[in-house]
Amino acid sequence: MKFNPISNPLDKLPEILKQNLKRNLCVCNEVKKIDIINAIANGATTLTKVRDKTYATSGNGCCTRQVERLIECIHSSE
Ligand code: FES
Repeated sequence: MKFNPISNPLDKLPEILKQNLKRNLCVCNEVKKIDIINAIANGATTLTKVRDKTYATSGNGCCTRQVERLIECIHSSE
């Protein structure tokens, strides 16, 4: 099955999740929130895939819940 990238991931996020896009969401590995959002939009539909692509959550996992929330929002209704 072919994955279609999501071209407007920001439109799927509530306002509060669109803030601080250029700040590190994953501070352990210095991964910016926008880079995580783009990885999710381009096919990283699970935590493991996001970790493989960006290294986010591979520190002590403290950003896991936030990354899960982004995945839920961006891939909702699919
Ligand atoms: S902030 Fe991402 S693993 Fe700690």
